[in-house]
Amino acid sequence: MRRYHVTTFGCQMNAHDSERIKGMLEELGLGESSTQEDADVLVFNTCTIREKPDTKFAAHLAQAAALKQHDPGKVIAVGGCYAEAQRERLFTLYPYVDVAFGPGSIPHLGEWLGAGGFGVARGRFGLDDRSFAGELPMHRERAFQAWVQISMGCNSKCSYCIVPAVRGREVSRRPGDVVAEVTRLARQGVREITLLGQNVNSWGRDLLPEIRTEFGELLRACDAVEGIERIRFTSPHPKDFRKPVIEAMAECGAVCEHAHLPLQSGSSRILKAMRRTYDRQRYLRLVGELRTAIPDLALTTDIIVGFPGETEDDFRETIEVVEEVAYDAAFTFVYSPRAGTEAAVMADQIPEDVKRDRIERLIAVVQRVASARNAERVGGVEEVLVEGTSRTDPSLLRGRTRRNTTVNFAGTAAPGELVDVRIDDATSTTLRGVQAVPVAV
Ligand code: SAH
Ligand code: SF4
Ligand code: F3S
Repeated sequence: MRRYHVTTFGCQMNAHDSERIKGMLEELGLGESSTQEDADVLVFNTCTIREKPDTKFAAHLAQAAALKQHDPGKVIAVGGCYAEAQRERLFTLYPYVDVAFGPGSIPHLGEWLGAGGFGVARGRFGLDDRSFAGELPMHRERAFQAWVQISMGCNSKCSYCIVPAVRGREVSRRPGDVVAEVTRLARQGVREITLLGQNVNSWGRDLLPEIRTEFGELLRACDAVEGIERIRFTSPHPKDFRKPVIEAMAECGAVCEHAHLPLQSGSSRILKAMRRTYDRQRYLRLVGELRTAIPDLALTTDIIVGFPGETEDDFRETIEVVEEVAYDAAFTFVYSPRAGTEAAVMADQIPEDVKRDRIERLIAVVQRVASARNAERVGGVEEVLVEGTSRTDPSLLRGRTRRNTTVNFAGTAAPGELVDVRIDDATSTTLRGVQAVPVAV
């Protein structure tokens, strides 16, 4: 049997796309290989959000090229956002790449890899013929947790971001299709779903009038599906986070007490240059509304430092917001210019050493506030969905709370079970505890 190996970079959407890629390859009769050495088809599902994933991919590809030199029969396929961004030069840059495809062209993989042997056709597909995940064969990575794509593409114009260029305009998946997939997943034993879109809060706006609806309604429809115990979503854009969604979050038992609310910057001036279309006050007001409606809410975020023109004062405003909101966790990024974006050609690019200095200071603050947030959980009991064994100590189990914090704990539960864990210790990123013994009544 021919075998494939997929290496995935980037966000959850890409990880989910890789499930479709694997599903397509299995439909073509290939089996999964755990190593690149043993695989006949090497697939790279790439990301190009910052320079770092580009360089990481280049290193991986160099290894694959070396393997191919020994075994010229190997097919190298490059998909995802980097492939799309570099469509004009990919084959010139990397002559040993056989097939390239953008994030929207996964449904066509078979046409390239299937007919008359593998890799016969050298080529790529563009953004014009995109389709949704749920309607394709799928190789799901986990039995009890699943990603569900609700939209593709992005209509925002954040001046630093390459995503709209590589993922295209936003298209919402039909509500009936989403709910049908969620129902199917629940029947298969899935207990936790994560709804995926670049801006989940603008979902529904482009649907035909007969079925037009909005994200809050989708949350309610998913909540009503029997067997789904946890609903997560990512990412909501603060600009479109409206009351009906907050109400749905507060009222739906399965919707988790967690919002990932990308801040990007705490300076209204920088937010304007980023074209985020909210300012610091509006963001903080939204945080207040969310916390009033859902008192136990965990908030996480994404922050960029060193955006063109960012002054020390702007940066301090970011620090102030981090302290004021007291995030449970934050992904922090050094601004990385992306060719073709508006910000890449802005004057006043920030020197690398200033960016480095700022990110280090930001990370220290994030760790401090996150540690304090986690410490508040010590002494309490958290409902944990068990995912496996601890990454650092195999004698412990690992799972996540509804607020999306990782917990390592002593216990006897199996993956996929929901158990109560008494929390006795905390770091800035994890909790530790002991499975609570159910009391007999
Ligand atoms: N659509 C999602 C995710 C976008 S990508 C959203 O809007 O929330 C994930 C994060 O990467 C962004 O939130 C941003 O913080 C970061 N990012 C995007 N482009 C970047 C760039 N050019 N440099 C540094 N960080 C970037
Ligand atoms: Fe990029 Fe902004 Fe769209 Fe997110 S909302 S994908 S940051 S353009
Ligand atoms: Fe995701 Fe990276 Fe593409 S963050 S959308 S895989 S550029």
